[in-house]
Amino acid sequence: MTAEDPIKVMKQKVGEAAAARVQSGSIVGLGTGSTTAYAIQAIGDRLKSGDLKDIKGIPTSFQATVLAKEYGIPLTTLDEVDRIDIAIDGADEVDPQRNLIKGGGAAHTREKIVDALAVQFVVVVDSGKLVDKLGSTFLLPVEVLPMAVTPVMRMLEKLGGKPQLRMGVKKAGPVVSDQGNLIVDVKFDSIDDPEALEKTINNIPGVLDNGLFVGLADVVLVGDIQDGQPVVREV
Ligand code: 5RP
Repeated sequence: MTAEDPIKVMKQKVGEAAAARVQSGSIVGLGTGSTTAYAIQAIGDRLKSGDLKDIKGIPTSFQATVLAKEYGIPLTTLDEVDRIDIAIDGADEVDPQRNLIKGGGAAHTREKIVDALAVQFVVVVDSGKLVDKLGSTFLLPVEVLPMAVTPVMRMLEKLGGKPQLRMGVKKAGPVVSDQGNLIVDVKFDSIDDPEALEKTINNIPGVLDNGLFVGLADVVLVGDIQDGQPVVREV
């Protein structure tokens, strides 16, 4: 192995492995994040080489749109298609039941729409994302309409969470999602019932969606380093 950053290597390998599963003629959900970026690049490479033909991508974010255009992947919308064959997307945490926390890139609302519609939703992560229990390493992102942010944060506290408004990096003020909303990241001491918490939070008026993805992942591909070599395994 080279002296490259091992996390980057794991992300690249797992992204490429997911891209290799895309078949000609498919409608492909294009996820968001640094791992999916490698998958989008690899899909573009396969199209360019002629190994893959006649696919269309449905992007989950502005980032995915930009990358798809850069790598020559034709795009479509949910209004134009009657199916998504495969969606490839990253995650911030994956538990043993393949439930996820997503939203590190503030794109979970659109990601959930696309990933949930896919016949096969393939999650791509490096091994550092595997946890025994959701919420152990990552805060739970919640997308909120700006005018409702204060009451929503109060309600999240009542549910036992510690909410904080996500602030921008290299941008003064809060992060604004692709839909023009705000992101509240919530620390829960323990997420014992992800399915119930997902529904309870989404029931708060003003919440668009939260980053719990329960029962959606069909395949989880994990990039790992074993004996100094990058490997990809399926869990
Ligand atoms: C964006 C997401 C990403 O898929 C998640 O944050 C993982 O990102 P990365 O692959 O960069 O670690 O949910 O909203």
